Amino acid sequence: MDTIMAKRVITTDLIEEDKTVENHLRPQLLDDYIGQSKVKNNLKVYIEAAKQREESLDHVLFFGPPGLGKTTLAGIIANEMGTNIKITSGPAIEKPGEMAAILNNLQPGDVLFVDEIHRLNRQVEELLYPAMEDYAIDIVIGKGATAKSIRLDLPKFTLVGATTRAGMLTPPLRDRFGVVSHLEFYSVDELKKIIIRSAKVFSVEIDNKGAEELARRSRGTPRLANRLLKRVRDFAQVKYDGKITAEVAAFALDLLEVDRLGLDQIDREILAVMIERFNGGPVGIEAIATTIGEDVGTIEEVYEPYLVQNGLILRTPRGRVASDMAYSHLGLEMREI
Ligand SMILES: Nc1ncnc2c1ncn2[C@@H]1O[C@H](COP(=O)(O)OP(=O)(O)OP(=O)(O)O)[C@@H](O)[C@H]1O
Ligand SMILES: [Mg+2]
Repeated sequence: MDTIMAKRVITTDLIEEDKTVENHLRPQLLDDYIGQSKVKNNLKVYIEAAKQREESLDHVLFFGPPGLGKTTLAGIIANEMGTNIKITSGPAIEKPGEMAAILNNLQPGDVLFVDEIHRLNRQVEELLYPAMEDYAIDIVIGKGATAKSIRLDLPKFTLVGATTRAGMLTPPLRDRFGVVSHLEFYSVDELKKIIIRSAKVFSVEIDNKGAEELARRSRGTPRLANRLLKRVRDFAQVKYDGKITAEVAAFALDLLEVDRLGLDQIDREILAVMIERFNGGPVGIEAIATTIGEDVGTIEEVYEPYLVQNGLILRTPRGRVASDMAYSHLGLEMREI
């Protein structure tokens, strides 16, 4: 990811400091997984049905912004099915032979989790088509005139793919997933539950109001909620008596420049550019990206969804428009047109 994102406290991407804690915080079963009730209820039915029929679960695709729980759900699926999970990612597999080896080593019912599946190269992706559809792959043995293609049967496995960019998936790949689930931003109430659960894991004391303050500023994202909880815990320990209250949370998050809506400087800059340079819009995403010095994909995938979800940016056929709320959030007057 780019350098500005990397420095953000509120980047929803996985950063070094998350790695040590994420595995402890990951819920292991569907019932412990908070929120995403639509996705969860569907999965419950499919998992139950597959288990009754003693079949492998249909291939599942999760898409949505970073940090919403795609990897977590892949692990949960394997746990619920009582099978193993093998984890890899689009950019990690360079040659079809590597994918063939992974597939060939799976046990019946296993989950193969492919993160960033939109980044698989073409040949590797094409190997997946028959693997997903017929549980078989064609491999070429030998070279030149003696080369022959043989079909290798695979165990019945479940491919779980994750992507932040569903739009970049090719139609033939996407069509081979029986279950396609979009993960959404979490509500404040759901994040509150996640924070209270994580606080227990960290053995840190937090009251209801403190959890709510943190939840409101976590931009709908569990990964960020957990990271902010950790940061605020440090403040609570050093500056207060260890307990996270609304006051401690607000104080720490103000220092970290995460505002009441969970926006940071860059989010605010996007809104300010729209309002001050482009008169509130409509303005194209490219123009915003150029002015800020970010790439279009990052703005579209990482910053904008949350701003749109919260009604700060309106998407119109003619371009993006800053809403009344964006003006008032920044303390700016709406201009007369
Ligand atoms: N529903 C949930 N309930 C509790 N904790 C959750 C939930 N979803 C995610 N988390 C927490 O958030 C962290 C990030 O989730 P996860 O790694 O699954 O996100 P992701 O969608 O795979 O992100 P990325 O797109 O960056 O790969 C996890 O460590 C987990 O602790
Ligand atoms: Mg992930």
